[in-house]
Amino acid sequence: PTCERYAVRRLPFARLQDGDVAFFQRLMPGRVVTGEEEVKPFNVDWLKSVRGCSQLVLKPQTTVEVAQVLRYCHERNLAVNPQGGNTGLVGGSVPVFDEIILSTALMNQIISFDKVSGILVCQAGCVLERLSEFLEKQGFIMPLDLGAKGSCHIGGNVATNAGGLRLLRYGSLQGTVLGLEVVLADGSTLDCLTSLRKDNTGYDLKQLFIGSEGTLGVITAVSILCPQKPKAVNVAFLGCQSFENVLETFTTCRAMLGEILSAYEFMDEKCMELVERHLKLSRPVADSPFYVLIETSGSNSTHDEEKLNNFLERAMASGLVTDGTVATDSNKIKMLWSLRERITEALTHEGYVYKYDISLPVGKLYDLVTDMRARLGQSAKNVVGYGHLGDGNLHLNVTAESYSHSLLDAIEPFVYEWTAKCSGSISAEHGLGFKKKQFIHYSKPSKAVMLMQQFKAMLDPKGILNPYKTLPSAPESSMC
Ligand code: FAD
Ligand code: MLT
Ligand code: ZN
Repeated sequence: PTCERYAVRRLPFARLQDGDVAFFQRLMPGRVVTGEEEVKPFNVDWLKSVRGCSQLVLKPQTTVEVAQVLRYCHERNLAVNPQGGNTGLVGGSVPVFDEIILSTALMNQIISFDKVSGILVCQAGCVLERLSEFLEKQGFIMPLDLGAKGSCHIGGNVATNAGGLRLLRYGSLQGTVLGLEVVLADGSTLDCLTSLRKDNTGYDLKQLFIGSEGTLGVITAVSILCPQKPKAVNVAFLGCQSFENVLETFTTCRAMLGEILSAYEFMDEKCMELVERHLKLSRPVADSPFYVLIETSGSNSTHDEEKLNNFLERAMASGLVTDGTVATDSNKIKMLWSLRERITEALTHEGYVYKYDISLPVGKLYDLVTDMRARLGQSAKNVVGYGHLGDGNLHLNVTAESYSHSLLDAIEPFVYEWTAKCSGSISAEHGLGFKKKQFIHYSKPSKAVMLMQQFKAMLDPKGILNPYKTLPSAPESSMC
């Protein structure tokens, strides 16, 4: 009962019996997936770095069905892995052993949208991009956007507290999610699906589930505050000669663009090389050690363009920026964004990807990339840095032809020690999932981890919900 590669011991959950499958088939006929080939894509994560061996995928359509499934699994002591779009990057979305996969793929109904308040209520399995398309027709947008928008589900976004490309402007889901409906491990339903901006009646329980990665309950519906679609959007893509210049450009643009700044993203030279080589995207400005993508969103195009041009003149004249291009039409805006959004995809063409998602004081953001590059030398194929600079969030990625234990040992725990020394976070926006749960202590005190374990025990006493994820396991079953 030990998974060789991870050296994790299977916990004593019940094993799936024919009678269980028959029960689920009666409960949701035609929406029970069995058979190795059919189940396979649900067992493997987006990065193809972890793989489970579940034999069963369930696709409920309603909250009542989710509740019936969990009540049954709770009674039978069967472990369950909630899954949305399966785009998670920390191995949280797929089973470790034979956990039943509970997919939200068919929970994709919009429940209501209020054009006055901008509040959207929908089922957890709505794909982010479908929600964006629906809202755009009404003159609104989702408060979050990410490269995985075509596949990820809003429930998965909430379960991971996904950050993404708009956080700088609209804040995190901890602020924009107004209400949640959640089915708990025992099959009871917690209805906190309110649509109020203000509600101070007792503890804000929904916050516990935002970022809980499927370990405390299954999110079945979400109420979320959506901003109006900005009338004017501009994107500037710039080249900088040093990281110091990237930082100073940020300070300057914050001062000069003020309220219209909606994104400040960066990528290094190596990232640009990879999106060019693997995705055939073309470099829009002259070769530079660093690139910056700045987006403005406002209500008056003349005013915004004037502000942006003034900023660009200043940045170019002072040498902070050495080349740049600006887009106002939507096709060119999309093209410039894809250079940044598709780095994740380009990296997968290089072989195995070791992914780190770190929060740091912004001034130190790139030092970690430089130090890691020096430390790994020739043993890594690439060491690259990109991310949401405006949020102090670095994506450090190391690639190699294939997975190697010795390379992993050279990266970890060094990367976490480095981060802890700067009082950073070892997971800014991706969560801990299966891959990083043992490292939580680098970012949280023991008392906090203990309280988390107590919450988990209270809400899921049998531990059936997404076991082996997020919280560190006891030493005897830890990753080796
Ligand atoms: P899954 O991957 O299916 O699941 C993720 C976790 O949430 C798992 O632990 C799962 O058990 C749990 N879960 C899923 N649905 C539910 C539910 N209904 N109830 C309870 N638990 C649930 N992340 C960012 O933060 N910012 C980015 O900019 C970003 N960009 C990305 C770009 C690409 C190309 C890719 C592949 C990933 C990116 N991610 C990003 C990571 C990922 O997309 C997000 O974590 C996303 O929020 C996951 O949503 P999902 O529906 O795919 O969830
Ligand atoms: C991003 O910002 O591109 C995502 O978080 C995905 C990644 O880290 O590669
Ligand atoms: Zn990101």
